[in-house]
Amino acid sequence: MNFRRAKLEDLDEIMRIEELCFRPSERFSRETYRSLLLRRDIAFVVAEIDDRIVGFVAAEARGLKGYVYTINVHPEHQGKGIGKALMKEIETIMRNAGAKIMELEVRADNKRAIKMYESLGYTTVFFLPSYYGPGKNGYLMRKRISE
Ligand SMILES: CC(C)(COP(=O)(O)OP(=O)(O)OC[C@H]1O[C@@H](n2cnc3c(N)ncnc32)[C@H](O)[C@@H]1OP(=O)(O)O)[C@@H](O)C(=O)NCCC(=O)NCCS
Repeated sequence: MNFRRAKLEDLDEIMRIEELCFRPSERFSRETYRSLLLRRDIAFVVAEIDDRIVGFVAAEARGLKGYVYTINVHPEHQGKGIGKALMKEIETIMRNAGAKIMELEVRADNKRAIKMYESLGYTTVFFLPSYYGPGKNGYLMRKRISE
């Protein structure tokens, strides 16, 4: 597996994985992904196996915070450590950009993602009632990435 910066030409493959991972109401739109890919201040990394994208993560260093917008692993490749590896890669990029803490939001019912974040050292700092729509709660999770 190798990591590289995502390019605009990756948009179709990125959308395919997004569609496999989320129901329509939960997805980021193609326009959202296009704008993330075009922003030079966003670190957007894809993981590839045999030249195929198997996962991706996008984050932004906002001063002392590294904020994760999205992380997805192709369903056929989940549970193999790719999500964790992508998170470690983006944490390194954010640390190098000056971030001292990482932050992200996650749906309260996304047990798998929450388990992954916890195993990487993230803790829940806020409960976000109806953050994703009526009755769809979230959590803000945070991790310190430097002394
Ligand atoms: C959440 C997601 C990114 C995790 O990626 P992944 O490559 O499957 O995860 P990894 O293989 O790196 O596993 C990381 C941790 O997730 C948890 N995990 C992995 N597979 C799991 C499973 N089948 N059941 C429960 N927890 C699981 C474990 O805690 C694991 O840590 P461990 O290896 O120390 O036990 C991936 O499942 C995904 O893309 N899900 C759909 C999109 C999504 O929910 N994104 C996050 C939005 S906030």
